[in-house]
Amino acid sequence: MNNYKNLFETSVKKLKIAGFRNPISDCRKLFNHCAGSDAYKDTDSTLLDKHTNRIFDFAVRRRLSQEPVSHIIGYKDFWKTRFYVNQSVLDPRPETELIVEKVVRLSSSKLSVLDLGTGTGCIAISIALEKAYSEVFASDISLEALRVAKFNAKELGARVSFIHSDWFTNIKNTFDVIVSNPPYVCANDLISLPLTVQRFEPRLALAAGELGLDCFRKIASKLNDYLNPGGIGIFEIGFNQMRSIKNLFETHGFKQIDFFFDLEGKERVVCVKKDA
Ligand SMILES: C[S@@+](CC[C@H](N)C(=O)[O-])C[C@H]1O[C@@H](n2cnc3c(N)ncnc32)[C@H](O)[C@@H]1O
Repeated sequence: MNNYKNLFETSVKKLKIAGFRNPISDCRKLFNHCAGSDAYKDTDSTLLDKHTNRIFDFAVRRRLSQEPVSHIIGYKDFWKTRFYVNQSVLDPRPETELIVEKVVRLSSSKLSVLDLGTGTGCIAISIALEKAYSEVFASDISLEALRVAKFNAKELGARVSFIHSDWFTNIKNTFDVIVSNPPYVCANDLISLPLTVQRFEPRLALAAGELGLDCFRKIASKLNDYLNPGGIGIFEIGFNQMRSIKNLFETHGFKQIDFFFDLEGKERVVCVKKDA
């Protein structure tokens, strides 16, 4: 009997055999996107709508070639909203929400904030939507990424000013808070990233030299000049980078350096404070 449930289950099986980690969740998202409903649960003899069948089948084939689900459906959920994504930007990751959480918890409701390497704009836009009285700026070296971020800000009604800049090069102001999820993957780890990431996410958003610290070195060396007195820097870091990141910020004169861990217990975020 040819119904949606059979089609769905056959597709889940294909992904499972190909070694995908979340075949059911992937197929659910793809089906919802293609059919505009969760009719994959239907067990009755509903005949398949040919159009839905064709586009769902095509979506599953794209997934089988390792394309991320987010690129096929065109968005990724992050914090409280949905962000348009494409091949020019890194997919927002759930662990990055920790940066937004840290900023939201700061007592002041009116802050000047800079997000360096904004990608989709997920951090800057989420902060702007949460802290409506704040002044939020976001930069990236990639013009394509800035195009995506500007589109997302407009769609979501967030007030963010975008700047094309190589880290601090074109930044004129100073800020209460500077955040970033910079590239931090070291050369050795690049080749062991999942194929989905290697083939479809921009290298510019991932690679950070031999030790994965190249971008942090540039950011840490200038951070003090761009923070207001008592200002805070909040950055995502990679697994096993805690010690080198601590040394780096200490070298540049920061005394208050705190690390925070994600739900898996891995060091994930560093907060540094400039003396008041
Ligand atoms: C890991 S992605 C983070 C994207 C987004 N903030 C997020 O958390 O999903 C790093 C971002 O830094 C940007 N980037 C890389 N080198 C840069 C540079 N020299 N100056 C500014 N941005 C840079 C990349 O284009 C990319 O968008």
